[in-house]
Amino acid sequence: MTLSVTRIGKTFVGEVAGIDLSKPLDADTVQQIKQAWWDHSILVFRDQDLTQEQHVAFSQNFGELQGHTVKDWLLPTHPEILVLSNRGRGGVKPLENGGAYWHSDITYEAVPPMGSILHGLTVPPEGGDTLYADMYAAYEALDDQTKALVDDAVAIHNYKHRYMLMAEGGKRPDPTEQQLAEWVDVEHPVVLRHPDSGRKALFVNEGFTVSIKGLGKDESNALLARLYEHSVRPDFVYAHAWRPHDIVMWDNRCTMHSATPYDAESYERTMHRTTIKGTPFQHQAAA
Ligand SMILES: [Fe+2]
Repeated sequence: MTLSVTRIGKTFVGEVAGIDLSKPLDADTVQQIKQAWWDHSILVFRDQDLTQEQHVAFSQNFGELQGHTVKDWLLPTHPEILVLSNRGRGGVKPLENGGAYWHSDITYEAVPPMGSILHGLTVPPEGGDTLYADMYAAYEALDDQTKALVDDAVAIHNYKHRYMLMAEGGKRPDPTEQQLAEWVDVEHPVVLRHPDSGRKALFVNEGFTVSIKGLGKDESNALLARLYEHSVRPDFVYAHAWRPHDIVMWDNRCTMHSATPYDAESYERTMHRTTIKGTPFQHQAAA
């Protein structure tokens, strides 16, 4: 079969039609999905009422799966699935205000994930969109002077900073000793050359990037603030309005995302996410 993909965002995001993800996929179809993923960075599939097993099986077509540093959100029956639910479904703690800031997932680890596959099980009738930013487009739109400044730069990422902000706001419990020991600084290139597409993407995010290596605190903060603001200009952003049983898969190396508010008192919002392990980055973006 030939995959039907329609571009629905300005510079990225493809909607894929005519495929049932609950069924096992042959190698040719998986290859076509991968190619579409590299071409569009984000793929949207509608009306895919997958069981947990089917969600995991579909995800495994793209690589090995990983969990999350906060184990309270992993589904006990399928620890490959992270539950993002304001009602705490499946024996998992409710998650309030998860991911409501611009970030790429788990960039505070040495090898961040390749991507994630999110299944919207119960979605509010209004609000709760997920915003995505195209980090290829963001990089390409930088002026030459800024490109020269960031092309070979290295950034420090750490989860602690984000967690403590939320803990201080009462949204997370105090961290455990084990968590504190796990959250160490990691380094990633500020500009990533994508291993599959070969294109350059900006790879700093407000969620987990702490500083730019070699710059003073003020200079680093100013540059990061400028890059963050630039990356989420409306031209580079797609807003996904969820329908029940949408599947959205995003490439974590060339996109960012942010959750948006909804009326959590009145409505349930429950999503299941699988996360595909990445491969180590080349630290020379220009190579
Ligand atoms: Fe996220």
